[in-house]
Amino acid sequence: MPKPSSISAAAPATPPADTKGLGYLAAQLSAPVSNAEAALRPLSFADFAGQPKTVERLKIMVGAARTRGEALNHILLSGPPGLGKTTLSLILGAEMGRNVRITSGPVVEKASDLAGLLTSLEEGDLLFIDEIHRIPKTVEEYLYSAMEDFRLDIMIDQGPNARSVRLSLPRFTLVGATTRAGMLTAPLRSRFTLQTRLDYYDADTLAGIVRRSCGLLGVPLEEAGAREIATRSRGTPRIANNLINFARDYAQQRGDGRITQKSAAAALELLEIDARGLDEMDKRILRVMAENYRGGPVGLGTVAMAVSEEADTLEEVHEPFLIQEGYLQRTPQGRVLTPKGYHAVGLKPLGAAQDTLL
Ligand SMILES: Nc1ncnc2c1ncn2[C@@H]1O[C@H](COP(=O)(O)OP(=O)(O)OP(=O)(O)O)[C@@H](O)[C@H]1O
Ligand SMILES: [Mg+2]
Repeated sequence: MPKPSSISAAAPATPPADTKGLGYLAAQLSAPVSNAEAALRPLSFADFAGQPKTVERLKIMVGAARTRGEALNHILLSGPPGLGKTTLSLILGAEMGRNVRITSGPVVEKASDLAGLLTSLEEGDLLFIDEIHRIPKTVEEYLYSAMEDFRLDIMIDQGPNARSVRLSLPRFTLVGATTRAGMLTAPLRSRFTLQTRLDYYDADTLAGIVRRSCGLLGVPLEEAGAREIATRSRGTPRIANNLINFARDYAQQRGDGRITQKSAAAALELLEIDARGLDEMDKRILRVMAENYRGGPVGLGTVAMAVSEEADTLEEVHEPFLIQEGYLQRTPQGRVLTPKGYHAVGLKPLGAAQDTLL
């Protein structure tokens, strides 16, 4: 069995407040895993809603590996934050009946860190490397032979005493997670047997997740309340769960404790999350593009400066949803606002004629 404590132990009880005051969303998505989040995490495929293609692929691999009595092949999970990459890696461990060691790309600084992790694994264990695109290049090269041949050739000592030592490793499974699949090098990517991408969830699936979470938390919920939260969660279970927490507090303080359509809508208004799930930062991005850059094309870095946010946050958190929902387009020249993007912030798209006047 995996050790769920390995996640909760490392996590503070409460996520840090959004001190910059810039967007509830980015703060929620970048906050460390809270105990509440760990409590709502599905622990088996049966509890994991949505992502039918990815789940089917994983079930086939798990079934086959178990039948053959072998370790699972290496798996790369990609997709925007909060869609279930960490959750799935823990489910893989549970379904395989193996331990999951959890680490993160930037933490594995040296080859010796990697050696320490890999030699502590037992046959069939899973090593989960979150943000694998941020693993240092020097360490990445050691990963190649570890993944392929289950061995590690490391140099010990320096100068005239330097020598290479070969460590043989147990057959392990590397599960990599990344929000930026494009930043992975080709040699690393090609060593994963399965590369699968998680997509945003549809409102029906999210409503189901909201019902499940409220059930686990013992929060009274009306169906219309579940819908209201689902449609405002930008297709992201982590956001849905966070919104439930606030909607519950709101319902207790301002209503009769039930999450209804009305109380959920009022709670989310208070968080400045609109009916489409756009938050203040999303709207600032759209507005800046319309008002300062005539709808683009404009570079991501320029927009990031104009809204005082990190370019990485824009690219990983805000942009994927804005693009998927058709508010923005990505072109070789830069980001371009669509007519839907203008309408979302109450502006009219610039016509071609106006465009040339400016
Ligand atoms: N399919 C699902 N069904 C139910 N709940 C889910 C599902 N996917 C994710 N969740 C919930 O959303 C939370 C966030 O998921 P998770 O931590 O796995 O996302 P992630 O993709 O690893 O995000 P990040 O990129 O930020 O690490 C989990 O605690 C879990 O409760
Ligand atoms: Mg994660």
